[in-house]
Amino acid sequence: MKKDIISIADLVMEEVKDLLELAREVKAGRKGKGALSGKTLAMIFEKPSLRTRVTFEVGMYQLGGYAVYLAPGDIGLDKRESVADVARNLSRWVDGIMARTFAHRTVVELAQFASVPVVNALTDREHPCQALACGLTMLERWGDMKGRKLVFVGDGNNVAHSLMLLCPLLGMDFVIACPEGYEPKGGIVQRAEVLARKYGTSIEILHDSHQAVREADIIYTDVWASMGQEAEREERLKVFRPYQVNAQLLSEAKPSCVVSHCLPARRGEEITDDVLDGPQSVALDEAENRLHVQKALLIRLMGTITAPEP
Ligand code: CP
Ligand code: NVA
Repeated sequence: MKKDIISIADLVMEEVKDLLELAREVKAGRKGKGALSGKTLAMIFEKPSLRTRVTFEVGMYQLGGYAVYLAPGDIGLDKRESVADVARNLSRWVDGIMARTFAHRTVVELAQFASVPVVNALTDREHPCQALACGLTMLERWGDMKGRKLVFVGDGNNVAHSLMLLCPLLGMDFVIACPEGYEPKGGIVQRAEVLARKYGTSIEILHDSHQAVREADIIYTDVWASMGQEAEREERLKVFRPYQVNAQLLSEAKPSCVVSHCLPARRGEEITDDVLDGPQSVALDEAENRLHVQKALLIRLMGTITAPEP
């Protein structure tokens, strides 16, 4: 595995499979105890968080290690001190760094200058830990994901990007239904298309959510205005209105279709209460799985349990 996980594109298919299998072992309590005994993780946050902070901090504790939380403003990343100097200093004290930043290049730069592993805990471009948690949730539900279809309804944002890159590695088709002008970034689409060709899956960008969900095995959604886009919120509320995941839209998918959301949700906007709290929702299973899949990732990056030879 690479030293750093900045993007889902840093992982190959075998590594994703290995991480998800290890996460299942960790979740079942069969692996992980003491795997990071005495190890430390620095957690840099430029944005707020519930799930990411708690799951990384609790995960490190459960593996026998310790996590240091660095709140937004604590270290003045790129203001009080350059990103490179923060990376160089932290590398002398801790065994790993996770970072949630606005600019994607900040995490790229941390990884470049840190001698220890760096994990992307959400940037404006990607949220790989979330996509892996979704992968674990689908694996638990279906066993084999080959031939299944994930339909993302909403903004072509960080979460959509990571899911789009992950689907081909799981043998899944990916569809996004988004308003015109809110498509995923071209570079990521191209990368995902290369992977899709390699693994015999497909990537589709549509603008009609009703057409998109027809063959969906999982419908995924996320907020219409991400952290950092607060100024665009009013405009986005209008543009995204036809992209709400509600009971009507869900009824147009297969009866077995499940629904997920990375959370936090803006209830009544991108998703309705009845769907998020309904029997087809797996959003909380996915939130729980953040803990297990990140423990697997931390073990592989910082621990002593090595992956089996491919
Ligand atoms: N899904 C997720 O990353 O949640 P937080 O923003 O609360 O960490
Ligand atoms: N797209 C959202 C995800 C939050 C977990 C954001 O970046 O705010």
